[in-house]
Amino acid sequence: MPRWGAACCAPTRILDVLYSSNMPTTEAGLDKTLAALGVADAGQVKALFGGLREQFDAEAAKAGDENSWKALRDGWLGRKSGALTLVTDNWLKPATPELKRAVGASLNELRTHVDAQIEARRAAIEAGAESAATAKERVDLSLPGVVRPFGSHHLIRQVFQEIEDIFFSIGFSVVEGPEIETPYYNFEALNIPEHHPVRDDMDTFYLDVPKSAPGPLLLRTHTSPVQIHTMERREPPVRVIVPGKVYRRDNPDATHSFMFHQIEGLAVDADITFCDFTGTIDYFVKQFFGEGVKTRFRPSYFPFTEPSVEFDASCVFCGGSGAAKSGGTCGKCKGAGWIELFGAGMVDPAVYGFVNYDPAKVSGFAFGIGIDRLAMLKYGIDDIQVFFQNDVRFLRQFP
Ligand code: FA5
Repeated sequence: MPRWGAACCAPTRILDVLYSSNMPTTEAGLDKTLAALGVADAGQVKALFGGLREQFDAEAAKAGDENSWKALRDGWLGRKSGALTLVTDNWLKPATPELKRAVGASLNELRTHVDAQIEARRAAIEAGAESAATAKERVDLSLPGVVRPFGSHHLIRQVFQEIEDIFFSIGFSVVEGPEIETPYYNFEALNIPEHHPVRDDMDTFYLDVPKSAPGPLLLRTHTSPVQIHTMERREPPVRVIVPGKVYRRDNPDATHSFMFHQIEGLAVDADITFCDFTGTIDYFVKQFFGEGVKTRFRPSYFPFTEPSVEFDASCVFCGGSGAAKSGGTCGKCKGAGWIELFGAGMVDPAVYGFVNYDPAKVSGFAFGIGIDRLAMLKYGIDDIQVFFQNDVRFLRQFP
């Protein structure tokens, strides 16, 4: 054997040191040239590379997870100080012309082997991790299923739907409007000028708007502004209902909430009469509460209707007798036999002026139903607050 016998073990030892303890390259010796290692012919080159390959295979066999795989890859293929870069720089480049071909061929062979093995290890580690994850996530079909209870519409939504269906059946359609309004739509265009006392009953929440804003904004106090929006956009005939939320600065109690729900109704056409109006309301009340319920109206006042009325229904609890079934007076109507339902009236001709309708050619009626109180009446609920407390024991009673 040529005299490099002792030297041919050197690369293996060098790499041992290099990869087991991250020793600097100079100390490990990979920065030595072939001449310095005493390698002088092609046979020695081959043996030297054979040793390197064995070292790589031993390292690769130990790379069983992502971190050790990365260390293997960087240790062998790293651009700056990976083993193959060092071999290129220190063994190949300075090799004598006679050795260059043998070193180049061995290096190429080694590189192909290292590339292929590193890729194979990566695929094997990934597949192992995947199957471990799959095993972890395996569904145990013998476990009881997850029960997902069905939700249902809130009672207020159900009442909206009932009322909408009744009005759909007589030719009305639904429109909606904004909950944030200008004072013009909420008040002025409804014939409620700035210092009108009726505004006191509809005190509301004003929004903080920048000083540069064109004017104040408020949360609408009723659905009536949508009358104006609708008439501004449509020519008569108009037959609409407007469901929605409204807001007032009312203190909460059993019949008051600062946020509640209304359905507005508006019908305007060439020849709508007071009889059409009362007939429509009577039809609605009978459909909603039952055929046996009677209606009546009393004079009232709203600036946007003339005449204005308040509709009552015969008490649904005592059948209009005013007497409780168990004796004494009916607690719901307090013996009156009637229960107040909602306000309404014939559209005030002054309102037509705000929407460019000709009051000489059209007439109509409007009404505004408080949905929460109507639902309380129909379903025997004593406190409006339960609608907003989200207590499932209450909600489940109205599936
Ligand atoms: C109005 O809001 C009128 N816009 C109704 C109207 C429309 C009249 C069209 C004529 C023509 P009123 O302020 O009375 O009217 O309110 C209507 C209904 O809302 C009441 O009958 C009541 O059921 C309900 N309501 C009023 N304030 C509250 C409150 N704080 N909490 C719960 N419901 C309320």
